[in-house]
Amino acid sequence: MASNSTPGTLPGGPALNVSGLDTMATAPVTIAIAVVVVGFLILHILSPSVDPREPPLVKPRIPLIGHILGLMRHQASYHIILQRSTGKPIATLPMLTGKVYAVWDPHLIAAGLRNKNLSSTPHIKAVTPAVTQVTKHTADLLTGPEGDHLTDRMMLHAIPNSLKGASIQRLNETALAALASSLSAFAATGSESVPNAWLWLRRLITSATGKAVYGPEDPFAKDTEVEDALWDLEANLLKLSLNLPAPLVKAGHRARAVLQQALMPYYAARHDEDAAASDFVRLRAAELRTGGLPDDDIARLEMMLPFAALANTVPLLFWLICNIFSRPELVEQLRQEVEAGLVTAKTDDGEVTLLAGTAAVEERCPLLMSCYRETLRRTVHQVSTRTAMQDTVLTDRNGRQYLLKAGTVVQMAIGASHAQDEYWGGDVDEFKPDRFIRKEADSNGEGPGSSKAMRAAFQPFGGGVHLCPGRYFAFAEMMAVVSTLLLGFEVEPLEGTEWKVPGFATRSVIDAVTKPAKQGEGFGMRFRRRQGWENVRWVYQL
Ligand code: HEM
Ligand SMILES: *[C@@H]1O[C@H](CO)[C@@H](O)[C@H](O)[C@H]1NC(C)=O
Ligand SMILES: *[C@@H]1O[C@H](CO)[C@@H](O)[C@H](O)[C@H]1NC(C)=O
Repeated sequence: MASNSTPGTLPGGPALNVSGLDTMATAPVTIAIAVVVVGFLILHILSPSVDPREPPLVKPRIPLIGHILGLMRHQASYHIILQRSTGKPIATLPMLTGKVYAVWDPHLIAAGLRNKNLSSTPHIKAVTPAVTQVTKHTADLLTGPEGDHLTDRMMLHAIPNSLKGASIQRLNETALAALASSLSAFAATGSESVPNAWLWLRRLITSATGKAVYGPEDPFAKDTEVEDALWDLEANLLKLSLNLPAPLVKAGHRARAVLQQALMPYYAARHDEDAAASDFVRLRAAELRTGGLPDDDIARLEMMLPFAALANTVPLLFWLICNIFSRPELVEQLRQEVEAGLVTAKTDDGEVTLLAGTAAVEERCPLLMSCYRETLRRTVHQVSTRTAMQDTVLTDRNGRQYLLKAGTVVQMAIGASHAQDEYWGGDVDEFKPDRFIRKEADSNGEGPGSSKAMRAAFQPFGGGVHLCPGRYFAFAEMMAVVSTLLLGFEVEPLEGTEWKVPGFATRSVIDAVTKPAKQGEGFGMRFRRRQGWENVRWVYQL
């Protein structure tokens, strides 16, 4: 290029004179400088301006798109990577011509989750049509002025009201009864080999939760393909929300179609109004019908409901079981704790009643509770996404203030607050069963690993108005399974004697808890009835 544009020279032409040589030598340099200058000008014009009161700018290594590529590739882990490499409590991440605020410090996250000027509604409205493929009429309604009202009715009325009091009580009881019957039937023969432990737990929890949430017409009970579709969809949700061309999201499209087609007959037959359906299903569907949505679009939208109820409980239980049973000494300690603390009755004909509620476990099984919290700490990667509706100020624990500008997206990365040694101490990357009950936790003032620091940095269920309303329900399900396995079974890896626990799958920005890589492929467990507990029927009590 350079030689072509230099007067007096032609490619492959005659030997050059001295001045021609000069031109040849300087032209590439001049052009390179021009490119750099123009490049910087373009970057400067395109880069968002950042007010000194805003969070400090963290530039990507690849200009303009570096953070986008990082988020696409690492998803929620990208926040942990950036927090660790910058050491910052909060940052402004430039992306193309825009910016996103990333909040990493637990105190700032807590302040952000509570702040009423930070709303999830714009984000929900923005991704819902692409993710759910509702009809145009419904998409217009949801994204129009009435959409805000309907979203608020769903989020601030239907959800909280359906997951409290008598409603959650019934959900608990139905799910626990279903778990009791599955686990009592399980391994009645004495020994059971489970080739894929992840899939086995998924099935167990999905059937109990599905029945509790949907009633006897549970769409997940009709065909296990529906359950598979839910997890395939989970793995593809980010792609769907970006509305990429169909060939790039084939698996996502297929999974969505299977799930929605399974839910359509349920809502069309109005099974959400059955007495045996939960208020969680009923109240949300009722709001949507009042808002004028047709049944098929209710089914399309409510494809997201089983995510809330299943997508986090199943992986958390999976990791909890791996964390416990891969440590034989811990298993012994926990057995003693559970037998002394949670068994309330053992009849002659083999019925064992176990407590599974939060208060009982908290009070009687501190080590089990610590294992549960430590599992949450290590595997919750939740990124809570909000939009600043007004110019808003977040204040950290030292009084330092950060301005968040109206219209900007704010990502609060709970995984980053669970991974900072400043709060958790030098063993932050290890699983410590007794972390939450260690003696030094009380003696270390406010420093790393103190109970005060840990309390501030432990945010597995979010906070503010969106604080997870299902957390105690999930807890009861998980405790029922774990304490049953502890008392009733010897649990071993299926292959060999070593626990080769799967690694983490990509940590999704869409849900809260990390999944095992490759759907837990190749990781099985063997369950044998424990001596003295051979013919037990399990009953759970809250
Ligand atoms: C270990 C299990 C679970 C974990 C770690 C978990 C975590 C979370 C987190 C972090 C949020 C906040 C999201 C945000 O800030 O944007 C959330 C919200 C929510 N969770 Fe859970 N969750 C679990 C189980 C459940 C279960 C079993 C249900 C239902 C039966 C449920 C229902 C919900 C709902 C409906 C919301 C949305 C609340 C709102 O936006 O107002 N969760 N969950
Ligand atoms: C919300 O925004 C308004 C306008 O900027 C501001 O005056 C108010 O203090 C903010 N509220 C909170 C809770 O930060
Ligand atoms: C069921 O879970 C909810 C939420 O757990 C909890 O508040 C309630 O105490 C539980 N129900 C019972 C029966 O205790």
